[in-house]
Amino acid sequence: MKIMPRGLLVVMGLLTIPALLVAQESTDSGSRGRELFETYQCWQCHGFEGQGGAALRVAPMVYPFEAFMQLVRHTNVMPAYSPNALSDENLRLIWDYLRSRPEPPAVEDIPALRDR
Ligand code: HEC
Repeated sequence: MKIMPRGLLVVMGLLTIPALLVAQESTDSGSRGRELFETYQCWQCHGFEGQGGAALRVAPMVYPFEAFMQLVRHTNVMPAYSPNALSDENLRLIWDYLRSRPEPPAVEDIPALRDR
């Protein structure tokens, strides 16, 4: 195997670091929260992106965590999730995921919905 010049290795290393940081950010809480959002069936009523469907839009999440937790744990219409069923830690990951969802584009920016 041909040995790479050291300078090239350093450059490749430097290029990899930001990529790893970005990847880690999105895999850690982002995708874990998404998995939990699926595991706990939130998507069934709120849509995979939290965009709403059978129930309200919940993303991008604008409530502080405490308020979010109150809504999920004490609710009228939606099934209430007790801390035994869904831990605070996992709920926080779901909250992180919902907060990370982008704002939807404006209706005028969606070609299929324009000029009708
Ligand atoms: C069976 C359908 C269903 C499931 C599953 C469900 N929800 Fe809901 N959710 C609702 C409905 C209906 C409401 C409307 C408010 C109510 O219950 O009074 C709601 C309300 C909410 C609200 C308050 C939104 C607002 O702006 O008032 C949040 C936050 C929320 N759900 C998060 C979640 C999360 C997180 C999960 C999963 C852990 C989940 N929901 C699972 C049906 C569901």
